[in-house]
Amino acid sequence: MRIGFLQLRPRFGAVRENVRKAAALLDKMSDAIIVLPELFNTGYLFRNGAELAELAEKVPGGYTTAEMQKLAKRRRLTIVFGLAQKHKGAVYNAAVCATPAGKVEVYQKAHLFDREKLFFARGKALKVVPAGGAKLGLMICFDWIFPEAARSLALQGAQILCHPANLVLPYGQEAMRTRCIENRVFAITANRIGSEHRGTMDLTFTGGSQIVSPAGEVLASASDRSESLRVIDVDLAEANNKNITPNNDLFADRSPALYGALVRRRR
Ligand code: ACM
Repeated sequence: MRIGFLQLRPRFGAVRENVRKAAALLDKMSDAIIVLPELFNTGYLFRNGAELAELAEKVPGGYTTAEMQKLAKRRRLTIVFGLAQKHKGAVYNAAVCATPAGKVEVYQKAHLFDREKLFFARGKALKVVPAGGAKLGLMICFDWIFPEAARSLALQGAQILCHPANLVLPYGQEAMRTRCIENRVFAITANRIGSEHRGTMDLTFTGGSQIVSPAGEVLASASDRSESLRVIDVDLAEANNKNITPNNDLFADRSPALYGALVRRRR
């Protein structure tokens, strides 16, 4: 199975330019599962809710999803990409999965980072999507710091964590290796590069997109400097073997009766 990432440097607000650039790069390949960054079509640093609402799109029906659907069909790609989704009077930070058959599935980010809480509505469900011959667990950026998210996806059968990101903290990529080891799943983190300066706000994104194996090995990675498309072959069956030793199955050895604190809310 061929899986990969497209690391990009979006220009804030230039939706058509950002989408066209990504599509031109993806049009050179076929028959793969590819992950793009979080909010790859708009950029990240919204000044306020009005600016976000202006750039948000319907899924399906919006420009970005329609372009990705065409590309997925033409090149037989499963494409997971991040955008701001307009939905029932709210805006979500969403990951969309477009399949070669023309289907789209959406995950709305459950763990909002910093100022995202000012403008985005919080997603209320995790999502595993069968697509491209695999079970894809959808996560977005800051979801990485909640091991419960990756664990829930893995317990629901996810074989590959598809992780569009705009990582800014220095240890997200390293933490994703642990998410893979503790769940024995693959992960594709597609990050962005570059900086955004908007008014008094300033943010630099860390690049370092990567594909990680169920043993935590980094199978492919990008720098923090350049846009980059990487695709590799993996054996998906590796994600079905949950044995750490002949006597330890990661999921069978859990003791859920001890974990009640995980599902109680704390303030
Ligand atoms: C992030 O969740 N975009 C840091």
